[in-house]
Amino acid sequence: MIKINNFQEYEAAFSFAQEQPEAFWGEVAKDFVWLKPWDQVLNWDFENPTIEWYKGAQTNITVNCLDRHLPQRAHQTAVIWEPNSPNDEAVSLTYAELHSRVSKVGNALRKMGVQKGDRVCVYMPMIPELLIAVLACARIGAVHSVVFAGFSASSLSDRIIDADAKVVLTSDGAMRGNKTIAIKEIVDEALLKCPSVTNVLCFKYLGMPIHWVEGRDLDWSLEELMASDNCPPEVMEATDMLFILYTSGSTGKPKGVVHSTAGYMVYSEFTFRNMFQYQEGEVFWCTADLGWITGHTYLTYGPLLAGATTVVFEGIPTWPGPDRFWQVIERHSVNILYTAPTAIRSLMSFGHEYPERYPMESLRVLGSVGEPINEEAWHWYHEHVGKSRCALIDSWWQTETGGAMITPLAGITPEKPSYAGLPMPGVQLLLVDSEGNEIHGNNVEGNLCIKFPTPGMLQTTYGDHERCRQTYFSTYKNLYFTGDGARRDEDGYYRILGRVDDVINVSGHRMGTAEVENAINEHHTVIESAVVGYPHEVKGQGIYAFVITEHAVHDQDQARKEIIDVVSKLIGPIARPDKIQFVRGLPKTRSGKIMRRILRKIAEGDATSLGDITTLTDPTVVKDIIQGALVAVNTA
Ligand code: WTA
Repeated sequence: MIKINNFQEYEAAFSFAQEQPEAFWGEVAKDFVWLKPWDQVLNWDFENPTIEWYKGAQTNITVNCLDRHLPQRAHQTAVIWEPNSPNDEAVSLTYAELHSRVSKVGNALRKMGVQKGDRVCVYMPMIPELLIAVLACARIGAVHSVVFAGFSASSLSDRIIDADAKVVLTSDGAMRGNKTIAIKEIVDEALLKCPSVTNVLCFKYLGMPIHWVEGRDLDWSLEELMASDNCPPEVMEATDMLFILYTSGSTGKPKGVVHSTAGYMVYSEFTFRNMFQYQEGEVFWCTADLGWITGHTYLTYGPLLAGATTVVFEGIPTWPGPDRFWQVIERHSVNILYTAPTAIRSLMSFGHEYPERYPMESLRVLGSVGEPINEEAWHWYHEHVGKSRCALIDSWWQTETGGAMITPLAGITPEKPSYAGLPMPGVQLLLVDSEGNEIHGNNVEGNLCIKFPTPGMLQTTYGDHERCRQTYFSTYKNLYFTGDGARRDEDGYYRILGRVDDVINVSGHRMGTAEVENAINEHHTVIESAVVGYPHEVKGQGIYAFVITEHAVHDQDQARKEIIDVVSKLIGPIARPDKIQFVRGLPKTRSGKIMRRILRKIAEGDATSLGDITTLTDPTVVKDIIQGALVAVNTA
């Protein structure tokens, strides 16, 4: 393990990793438990993408998360669960208890016939059993595919079908603020389309009435109770699949990003320890749901690999009041908080008197992730939450990179508000222009690419390697293209400018414009639609939909409501458009391509600099759209 303790060490590690990447990553990987050492640290090729780390080695990530800690930390708290309601008791699990429960559920899965390499879909709320589910899969070598429990039945079935999952792990219901969500009902609906699923293991968490399919559905608690807690870990090759996580891109349906066992494991722990400067015994709280990559790497694997105490929070930041986060920090003496700018901005809108009421003396490090953090939010977070004494790290990374790529190391590399800063050691970045020419020097902007693999990098996209090549490795020769634009300032610090492709980032969640358009087009009177992002005060970006309907819409409010319902049903409430504007036509080139650049400008409220529109088939639609935009109705 390489732990960087000061700026000189950062510089030394950076140069070492740049000059001898294999020696560097070999050194980082040394302290894990390997059942067999590797033959080769790295085998790679970005042309026909192949990224194989620690080839020949064997391990099991749960041995590194759990078993190896037992001699020193059997009785240390591994997980603190803070339930949705502050009136309910928090629950703690020690490393020994977590090990035992993971083993039992692992055995229950084996009893159901789940074998190494089988895909298991996990659709659950943020309760301890969600972490247990994921680790139990990893224990027996099953590939977990966690689906965020806010996605609709239709999104869930798409993901189950794509991964050809055999088993689904779920709960009867979920609590979110003052709402109860019937999770099992969503699973039942999704499974109508998924014949590959042989069993559903359901955790009866709320005791709500549920439909039960005899023979298919199994009671989690009973199965766990009956199972032995001796669950030998499956021997995993370093390059064996650990998990699939679906994420949105520019085109088509979300794709299953595949992460391998060893590379992901090494990168999770390395980045966790170094970016947060984690100190033995600290309580770490990542507010992300396990349905996203941040929840995989920094709620679950990173902290458990490092032997930390990780907080799992079921609720939302604003319920029952906008001081819930600060209460949780006080209640569990949280030392490190990792959250998203949207949460900060939303809490900011209630005023700083809420965080001011809480001294939060335990806090040492604050982190931000998932979307650009604006300067105002950065300062508010720093001053009112961190009381101007905590390190604040803004970390940039992606589902595909598995762990943080550009980030300050807390208290070590200098912080600049709204800048992710310097790359992690081992991360070789470059900026290119639209032709793929490298842009050298500082004080420049361009498309952000990566020229050398890091251990957390994706292996493939599930079931479609060509799609992986095309999406990430074909835009620029021999480079991985992130999809983001970035600025490198006079000191070489990076500021992420946002996506340059057709992905929008709503509250830190990735959304493909095509995906939302396809859902909108399912509405019976919609002929065509075009979706773009626009600046949104709280969510970072909002979803703006331009919609053409078959006939003129008489009751626009009703039509908007119906469209929103269709989107919620097909994708989930997170994809609901914030604005819907009915238009008679869309700005299209003669070859039929929608000029989104124009729509983006209009959605941003900047119709003065649309550029050349004479190449459009019908330039007059633009004028109509601009006029309509002035009165476009917010759907919220
Ligand atoms: C964006 C989340 C600015 C970026 C970990 C990236 C950010 C996408 C930051 C990946 C940040 C993530 N500053 N933008 N600190 N972190 N992004 O896959 O556009 O859900 O490409 O991974 O989020 O989102 P994903």
